[in-house]
This record gives sequence, structure tokens and C-alpha cells, in this order.
Amino acid sequence: MELNIVIMAAGQGTRMKSKRPKVLHTLAGKPLLQYVVGTAARLQADRIVIITGHGADQVETQMTSAGLTFVRQEPQLGTGHAVQQALPVLGVAQENSITLILNGDVPLIEPQTLQALLGACGGHQLALLSVFLDKPQGYGRILRHPDLNTVMGIVEERDASPDQIKIREVYTGVMAAPTRLLEGWLSELTPQNAQGEYYLTDVVKLAAAQGTPVVCAQAPDEIQVLGINSPAQLADLERRYQARLAQSLMLQGVRLADPHRVDIRGTLRCEPDVDIDVNCIFEGEVFLGEGTRIGPHCVIRQATIGRQTVIHAFTHIDGGAAGVCIGDRAMVGPFARLRPGTSLNDEVHIGNFVEIKNATLGPGSKANHLAYIGDAQLGARVNYGAGSITANYDGANKHQTVIGHDVHVGSNCVLVAPITLGDGATIGAGTTLSKDAPRGQLTVARARPVSLAHWQRPARKPES
Ligand code: UD1
Ligand code: CA
Repeated sequence: MELNIVIMAAGQGTRMKSKRPKVLHTLAGKPLLQYVVGTAARLQADRIVIITGHGADQVETQMTSAGLTFVRQEPQLGTGHAVQQALPVLGVAQENSITLILNGDVPLIEPQTLQALLGACGGHQLALLSVFLDKPQGYGRILRHPDLNTVMGIVEERDASPDQIKIREVYTGVMAAPTRLLEGWLSELTPQNAQGEYYLTDVVKLAAAQGTPVVCAQAPDEIQVLGINSPAQLADLERRYQARLAQSLMLQGVRLADPHRVDIRGTLRCEPDVDIDVNCIFEGEVFLGEGTRIGPHCVIRQATIGRQTVIHAFTHIDGGAAGVCIGDRAMVGPFARLRPGTSLNDEVHIGNFVEIKNATLGPGSKANHLAYIGDAQLGARVNYGAGSITANYDGANKHQTVIGHDVHVGSNCVLVAPITLGDGATIGAGTTLSKDAPRGQLTVARARPVSLAHWQRPARKPES
């Protein structure tokens, strides 16, 4: 069977009241259109055509999957007009060629649902995906014959009579049509309606009038067919989708302090006995090892965290492209910031107001308070004092700091990179270190204390 998929993504999305094209607004961190494209890709179609128009350049550059054909719709005269633009690139080589039409703003539709719809179409019937909604506001209503119950047409809400408005069976924006018949129906569309647009939904009454059977497949669950037209609908779908992700994590045994207060914008994989406190956000690919605990209010992006590790409250981890990697039994936070390229070995302790970037800390090393470690390699069991920093940037280039095993960096040190501290070195508090520190010695660079026995503290002059 020959299969064309057309995804409509040219509309402005007026109701979003946004400069960003509607289909690029994100659900769980991913553009709406990317969900639809991903689902379409799983159906082994002969071609996937995306109709772009409003913000076309932006939409086309963001959709990078292979094998997509973009067709521009200028100006945007409605959904029927959108599909008309695709006709020249659709295949009609086979008699039973099917064209599946998807809305770019209905993100959570699933492949099995679409397979069922394709089955219902079979290459010779018009198959619509419909759903019964308690609140059908904003959707086209399915019109059925009063006696035969056959589908007669779809009426858009703005064109509906008061009686039609009450209909709860709505069109989801998904249909499968025999390609040859669709071509004919599209050529007959007229813009005689409240919006002055060419409605794709009008093909239903044309099919019915012509005697082509119109069948409705029911969407198995509501979340699959909810469309996004406004910020309120986007927020509503986000909450429902997040609730579903939270349920599936809990089914795997993850303990969420409150399933309503966690956000997963990507993929979170967890081993057994993971605890996640409230208001945590996970982005990109995150892995949590067995027995690891995440405290409240953490944001964790692109990170692999080992077993029995504790991430305390308000920690911000952003692995970026390089990722963040944390070993077993480590402790991080509260109020720690781990940036791309941070790698913490087992039992590392990172305390409050410590920032780490592009640095590796060996097993058991500690930086417990107020520190910056950037572009550095630290060995095992290093103690990195409060207020100490690597001065890794000279204004033009970044340089490396290399710290051996068992080094003790006192408080408030500035390690001016490039620099190497040998194994077992101790750096005295307050040292600005601009040359390498030998192994096993105390290195200190600071003015000697001076006490002035006869010094007098200035006294206030008597008032005149
Ligand atoms: C559409 C259906 C409605 C259905 C609903 C389901 C029509 C006329 N109405 O309404 O019956 O209940 O979807 O979600 O089809 N688009 C274009 N070019 C255009 C206009 C729109 O590509 O000229 C695209 C939009 O980017 C969007 C999709 O088509 O992805 C649907 O357009 P939208 O304006 O959101 O239609 P609805 O009013 O939601
Ligand atoms: Ca819509």
C-alpha cells in the first residue's frame, strides 16, 4: 500500500498570541511538530510532506529528521488549501494509495492509533479520527445522519448552529483518505464560511454526497488527540503529559514525593530505589543509579548520576553537550552548580555555592564551600578550601590546573593557570599561586602578619 503523510504546520496560531510559529512551541521541552514528525516516521510512509508557511524558515531549519519534504503554503488560506499545496508531490502510483493528514499542533497521537485509521480507510473509504470530549470547545463537530447515524460532514465551531455546538463528538484533525478521491474533493472546496477559509473538513460532506463511505475511528484516549491552540491548552496538555510520565516512573518503582511537582523534559532513566523530592526538573537525558536521592528544587540536565548519591536541595546541574558525570556515594549541594564537562568520581563531596566546569575530581575529593573549579584535573582525596578558585581565564585563553592526589588547598587561594600542584602539596590559606607547587611541601604566598604595638586607633574629634 502506498502511503503519503501530510503534516500541516503553516498556520500562524493566532490564538497563541506569540511571534514564534505555533508548532515550535514546546511540550515537555520538545517542539510540538517534532512529536508529530517522530510518530509519522514510525509508519513507514513512502513520503512525509510538511506544509510550512508562517515562520517557514524557522520551522524547516528546526525539523532536521531525514527524508522530509517541505512544501510552502503562501498565503495561508486554510487547512484545505494547505493540503492542496501538497498534491503535486504526493504519490498516486497505486490505485489504493492513501494520504494520511495530520495536524502539526496535535502532538501526542500514537502510531497504533494511526495504523487503525489506515486500516479503516483501506484505500477506498474516508476515515476520520474522532473523539468524544466533555468540553468540545474549539473543535469541529462531527455531523451524523439523524436516522442512519452515518457521517455527513464536519462543522467548525464558528459555523455551528446552537444545536450543533452541543455535539460532543469532535474531529481530531487526523484523517486518512484515498489519494485520488482526495484530489477531486480538494478541487471543489470553497471558502464560504465564517473564516473565509478553505476548510479541509469540507471534504467530508463532498465524500458523503458522492457516496464514498465515511467512517470514524475513535481515538483510544483523549490525551492523544488534544490540539494546541492557546497558551492555556498548551499548559493543560503539559500537565496531563507530565502526570503520565510521573505515573510511568512510579510504576517502575521511582518514589516521587509529589507526582504533580516534577517535570521531565526529555528522558529520565532510574534504577531501583530512587527518591525524588518536590519541584525537580529533568532535561535531556538523565540517568539516576540505584538508591540515589534528589532533594527538592533541583534542575538536572544531561547528567549521569551513580548509586547511593545524594543531590541536596537547589542544585543546578547542566551537562550541556559535554555532559555531567557523578559517581557512587557522592554528595552534591545544597546550592551547587555543575556545568558541562564536570566529572565527579565516587564519594566526592561538593558543598554550597561551589561551581564546577570542565573538571574531573578524583575519588573522595571535597570542595565544601564557596569555590570555583574550572578546566582542572584533581586527583583523589583533595581538600579544596572555602573561597578558593582556579583562575583559568587570562582574558583571551583558558588554561588547565592540575592537582595531584592528597593535595590540601587552603581557604581563599587563587590558582593561576596553567599550573600544577604535586601530590601531597599543601597550599597555605590566602595564597595567590602563580608557579607550580612541589609535591609534599607547604607552599604559601602571602604577606607576613605584622603587629604594631604602639598603634592607636583613630578617635572621633570632639564636636565644636
Ligand atoms: C482544525 C479542524 C477542526 C478540528 C481541529 C483539531 C479545520 C478547518 N478544522 O481546527 O475541525 O477539530 O483542527 O485539532 O481543519 N494550517 C495550515 N495552513 C492553514 C491553516 C492551518 O497549515 O492555512 C495548519 C496549522 O498550522 C495547524 C493545523 O493546520 O497545525 C490546524 O489548523 P488550526 O487553525 O489550528 O485549526 P483548528 O481551528 O484547530
Ligand atoms: Ca488546532
